[in-house]
Amino acid sequence: MKNNKKNNYVSKDKLGNNFTHKQIVETDEEKIKNDKDIKEKNTSSKNIILSIKNASYRYSDAEDDDYALRDVSFDFESGKMYAIKGRSGTGKTTLLSLISGLERCTEGEIIFDKKSLNSMNLDKYRNSDIGIVFQSYNLLPFMTSAENIILSMDVSGLKIKNKKEKAIELMEKVGLKETYADRKVLRLSGGEQQRVAIARSLSYNPKMIIADEPTGNLDKQTETEILEIFKKLAHEENKCVIIVTHSQNVCDTVDVIYDLKKSK
Ligand SMILES: Nc1ncnc2c1ncn2[C@@H]1O[C@H](COP(=O)(O)OP(=O)(O)O)[C@@H](O)[C@H]1O
Ligand SMILES: [Mg+2]
Repeated sequence: MKNNKKNNYVSKDKLGNNFTHKQIVETDEEKIKNDKDIKEKNTSSKNIILSIKNASYRYSDAEDDDYALRDVSFDFESGKMYAIKGRSGTGKTTLLSLISGLERCTEGEIIFDKKSLNSMNLDKYRNSDIGIVFQSYNLLPFMTSAENIILSMDVSGLKIKNKKEKAIELMEKVGLKETYADRKVLRLSGGEQQRVAIARSLSYNPKMIIADEPTGNLDKQTETEILEIFKKLAHEENKCVIIVTHSQNVCDTVDVIYDLKKSK
């Protein structure tokens, strides 16, 4: 039989199963059966960490029919990296504020880890379940790298032993040597600051990392290095990474691209 392979996206990571479900292989019966098994395994709800179901959002001062976001449905799985792209005004920032629990949907709902955000304490969700990374890093410049990370641990309310040690561990994970821990943020380059911001977003070990144009202020080489960190977090640490972006480099790196279109 003809080998008719269609790879929509196949991850290059070593975890295997998680990333092969879009690979449709039609060779012989056995292969088809195996694929079906993999597909069933991977589309089971256990991999979906966040599900946006027919979400719409209208700002309170907007006209009755003027939705910033209308009827959007996307699923996000653990262990994968996503890009949300779209032209200016298509609702990317609005969508991120819904995903990150800053706003609630006007219609529809968002399910995180099988629970609806509509009925969840959003402050708790923001401080423990998701990590957020911003384009302009949003670090406190007169504090050291470690202090910025420790502050985030404190806000989360989690009891973390040896906070400084843990902060250094997180910094090493994003490629910053221990000597950076006591350096004030304003003495770091943009790329280094973004690494600290990623380490901070990991401080309470969230399942999901959401980033708004995280490489928008960086050169291409540094962007590639930062993307490698996000990729590792998804593929090796099973995080769900969602990046809003205009960058082709980001789109080329992620596993799945969601294209947001203008609401009608
Ligand atoms: N605070 C607000 N009040 C009213 N309308 C808003 C507000 N913020 C954004 N909008 C509108 O919602 C739409 C989507 O905006 P936004 O989510 O910022 O898009 P993007 O991030 O893709 O550029 C735009 O038409 C914008 O004018
Ligand atoms: Mg925006």
